[in-house]
Amino acid sequence: MRIETERLILRKPRLSDCADIVEGVGQYDVARQTANVPYPYSSADGEAYIKKSLKNWGKTSYAFAIELKSEKKVIGIMSLEAINTFAGTATTGSWINKQYWRQGYITEAKIAINDFAFDALRLRRLNSTVNVGNAASNATQKKLGYVHEGTMRQAARSLATNKIHTLNMYGLLQSDWKIARRRLIDKL
Ligand SMILES: CC(C)(COP(=O)(O)OP(=O)(O)OC[C@H]1O[C@@H](n2cnc3c(N)ncnc32)[C@H](O)[C@@H]1OP(=O)(O)O)[C@@H](O)C(=O)NCCC(=O)NCCS
Repeated sequence: MRIETERLILRKPRLSDCADIVEGVGQYDVARQTANVPYPYSSADGEAYIKKSLKNWGKTSYAFAIELKSEKKVIGIMSLEAINTFAGTATTGSWINKQYWRQGYITEAKIAINDFAFDALRLRRLNSTVNVGNAASNATQKKLGYVHEGTMRQAARSLATNKIHTLNMYGLLQSDWKIARRRLIDKL
């Protein structure tokens, strides 16, 4: 499974991506907004993550490496986790190397991966949770058409910082995506 967009290739991660992944997710400002990423983040952490992603690929998850075509470099990950084809649901997670923030890369990746989730996997709903203080990720959810469905108080603890976080809960139904996609594609 490989998806190509204007600037990106979304593909299975490889062990040779380890240095790029460690560089990106090893940044404090990336790690601190996630629940399960330790800080500091070692090459062994990167390798274990890639191996686990390959083992689960196409079964319970797709953790797409986001490769920037112009630099042949992996600048992030966008994953569909806990895929349940009977329920029609999955949970999303993502990060982009800080050096590449605010250039529309996660928007471009998410448009393609949402299409994959709803059209190829025929899911009905994507779930995501975001720390209430994470301005970039909350903005991204809204831009992509996710509906804010509530908050979970003190529901997560960051492995990187040990801090407890209240989470915003979002859901994107296939019908929400149809509307958001039209708006985003017209704008692009
Ligand atoms: C969240 C994240 C993936 C966004 O990636 P990105 O490629 O920079 O996002 P985009 O450039 O596609 O921007 C998407 C929208 O978010 C907005 N946005 C991005 N960073 C922002 C910030 N710091 N504050 C407010 N809005 C922000 C953009 O302006 C854009 O909206 P717009 O088109 O209306 O202007 C990135 O900031 C990141 O990796 N953060 C750390 C890890 C993380 O938070 N992961 C998600 C955990 S739930």
